[in-house]
Amino acid sequence: MSTQTHSFTDAEKQLLIVVATLQSRGRPADRPTIEAFGRDYFGMYAGDWSNAYTSLVNAGLLIVAGDCYRIAPQIQALAEQYCRDNPKHRFFYDEFFTRVEHSKAHATFCERVYGANLAQHGMLEMPQLDELLDVLALKPGDEVLELGCGNGMLAEYISDGTQACVTGIDSSAAGIAQATARTSGKRSRLKFIAGNMLEVAFPSTTFDAVIAVDTLYYAADLPQFLNRLAATLKPGGQMGLFYSAWLAEGEPKELLRADQTALGKALRQLELPYKAIDYSAHELAHWHKKLQVARELRADFEAEGNLFLYNKRAIEAEYHQPYVATGNVSRYLYHVQME
Ligand SMILES: C[S@@+](CC[C@H](N)C(=O)[O-])C[C@H]1O[C@@H](n2cnc3c(N)ncnc32)[C@H](O)[C@@H]1O
Repeated sequence: MSTQTHSFTDAEKQLLIVVATLQSRGRPADRPTIEAFGRDYFGMYAGDWSNAYTSLVNAGLLIVAGDCYRIAPQIQALAEQYCRDNPKHRFFYDEFFTRVEHSKAHATFCERVYGANLAQHGMLEMPQLDELLDVLALKPGDEVLELGCGNGMLAEYISDGTQACVTGIDSSAAGIAQATARTSGKRSRLKFIAGNMLEVAFPSTTFDAVIAVDTLYYAADLPQFLNRLAATLKPGGQMGLFYSAWLAEGEPKELLRADQTALGKALRQLELPYKAIDYSAHELAHWHKKLQVARELRADFEAEGNLFLYNKRAIEAEYHQPYVATGNVSRYLYHVQME
């Protein structure tokens, strides 16, 4: 069967990603290894692949050799593309944004935690967003790239308020589908790309500003990624990057300083001129508030069948409490101003 006539399900894509990853690491792709590696890689977002084995094998797209599976040569490049396009959090965020779209409890949660509902999933409360907009002072028609834009509500808020043209990118296809549908009447100012920001080739000298809110944690090689972002800025362009740091037990507190976080070090390494605005005190208060509000809204989440969202928000807040209790967390807005 030609790849053009096969429409791949998410389960098939996941299976191809796992087999391709095992192959690239020189590991055997027998079924127990695929299952174990895949469950570990995708966690609870691993789909049920029982039909995917059969459908891909029947279509000649997955080849069985002895106990092992391998990708058919005609879709090797496609499988590698799926690996690049689908970072492992994608399937979590697909479910997150799909549920968030119609969840009144989650909208209330965001209003109470962040000060407005922009379907936030980071730590950006509205006063921080206001300060970002003050610092960037965007003008109508400015070209802005937002990394990890989720379902695009933040990009839309920024564009509506400034008339800047915002291009948002996110690896969650569900988030981007919502963003694209919701903003169809604003296409001259808002564009959205479903893709992996670490793999997409950004055009050079195109943007007046790059914004990343709680998204740079996903870049394994921050200097390399920042270098690419710097190249996409016009002369005099800016970056507004929100970034929090958490210390493991025993690590020295000085690693919480703006110039010592992974982002601060990467900016210094690249000699990118920046100023950091300290939101560490906000961060401590934020996690307390998040836990409290999530617990207060538990019944509302449950009533609408969204304990998934409650669990995600409450468990994440619980996880952060020890860091907060020991002051082992810091947060900054790094404002990069290019020459
Ligand atoms: C912690 S959330 C922050 C979302 C939003 N910026 C906010 O502050 O509410 C991280 C976002 O980054 C996206 N993301 C993670 N890895 C990505 C990648 N490699 N490429 C594009 N988006 C990615 C996720 O889908 C998610 O929407």
